[in-house]
Amino acid sequence: MLMTDPVPVSEPARQFHYMEVARNLVRQKAEEAGRPLSFFVQTFGCQMNARDSEKLRGILQHIGFVPGADETADFVLYNTCTVRENANQKVYGRLGYLQTLKKKNPSMMIALCGCMMQEPEVLQTLRDKYTFVDLVFGTHNIFKLAELIVRALDQDEMLIDVWKDTDQIVEDLPVDRKYSFKSGVNIMFGCNNFCSYCIVPYVRGRERSRMPRDIIREIESLVSDGVREVMLLGQNVNSYGKTLDPGVSFAELLETVSGIPGLDRIRFMTSHPKDLSDELIRVMAAHPNICRHLHLPLQSGSSEILRRMNRRYTKEQYLQLTDRIRSAIPDISLTTDIIVGFPGETEEDFLETLDVVRRVRYDSAFTFIYSKRTGTPAAVMENQIPDEIIKDRFGRLLTEVQEIGREQTARFTGRTMPVLVEQQNEQDASLVTGRLDTNAVVHFPGDSSLIGQIVDVHLDTCRGFYYLGTMLPHSQDTNLL
Ligand code: 5AD
Ligand code: SF4
Repeated sequence: MLMTDPVPVSEPARQFHYMEVARNLVRQKAEEAGRPLSFFVQTFGCQMNARDSEKLRGILQHIGFVPGADETADFVLYNTCTVRENANQKVYGRLGYLQTLKKKNPSMMIALCGCMMQEPEVLQTLRDKYTFVDLVFGTHNIFKLAELIVRALDQDEMLIDVWKDTDQIVEDLPVDRKYSFKSGVNIMFGCNNFCSYCIVPYVRGRERSRMPRDIIREIESLVSDGVREVMLLGQNVNSYGKTLDPGVSFAELLETVSGIPGLDRIRFMTSHPKDLSDELIRVMAAHPNICRHLHLPLQSGSSEILRRMNRRYTKEQYLQLTDRIRSAIPDISLTTDIIVGFPGETEEDFLETLDVVRRVRYDSAFTFIYSKRTGTPAAVMENQIPDEIIKDRFGRLLTEVQEIGREQTARFTGRTMPVLVEQQNEQDASLVTGRLDTNAVVHFPGDSSLIGQIVDVHLDTCRGFYYLGTMLPHSQDTNLL
């Protein structure tokens, strides 16, 4: 394929064209260098970014880059997050380090993508202070990586291609999965909720759902490729399908997915409490391959703060919902996200949050200090909370969350439960590490041949947030033997 061949207009054909062009360019450069060119992708942030990075790595490998170990690679890409301000600071800090590496290897390419790049102020800062960056793109056009690399190689200055929003969903490009036996699957993109503290709707654009048939086809093909567990991904999976014609609910999609032969475990992330339906609870309770784990961000336990966060539920509604979930699925593990120090949060508001934590008894909780994101309604709210008060509340919340988390996690001690083995233990090579369907971590004696298998493990003891167990003899997966 030559640069002069006609470029297809429709996707993904256009990208396959550019992948060929890029492959030739990478080959030439590798010949000049007398060695293969390497790449390194660093992911910041959430599961969505992790999945995007698998797609980016898939394209990079397809065009001839080989995986490198660290930032000394020839092509370094940071897939960024901007949900909290300190995520941005981390990226700027590491860019300084990349500049020193580029001085040693001038043909090195530095690329940035992801949520942070969707912010106009960030682009301005990069133009002003980080001119050594070669390529910048956003969240809506990651599928164009090959095309962008071809263009960036052809120009000296920084190439910036950031779209404000899109209605395009481009599929069927190469993917390099981190795990052979489990995979994320995007079911929707963007968010329409506009919680008042959150920047995501501004950087990920409007909600777009994939067609059920495309999702099912992708999962069937993953299963035939050895995948046993999928995580359905969306900023709020409960609004899946609302923009499709004909409309389809998340519960309907989940029920169809649960019927895919050979799929042992289904997870999903994230559920907004405002529109988690009773139908979804019924589907979860009815299908054993839907994992008994629900991540249900609380954000705050105070109805007044929730109102100002634009969460559209009250403390009472949240508690009623968790009661309904627990009575339908008694073993379920509930996890959550909580923000401390939202503008105007009083001690009483904070005590309401602690009250919910004590009543719901989460298996684990991600706790965040409120971070002011320019452009969101909360950023200009009065009564931003002083740091010392926030730190004190954060410490108290963490103590509570951890104590309850430890007790909750330990509740299966003495039982025998199926574990999907994920990896060899990082500290002790005689152990392997896997997860229960509730997402709890289990370590037990075993070797790497077990990775990707679901085996029965007796949960001997619980050490804080993980179990030590013993695999039952003869419990190895028969379908893999
Ligand atoms: N400050 C602190 N935490 C935030 N989150 C989102 N925006 C902010 C912010 N401005 C948290 C929420 C969300 C999680 C992914 O990040 O708890 O659920
Ligand atoms: Fe942000 Fe709220 Fe959308 Fe989650 S649901 S991404 S917290 S706006």
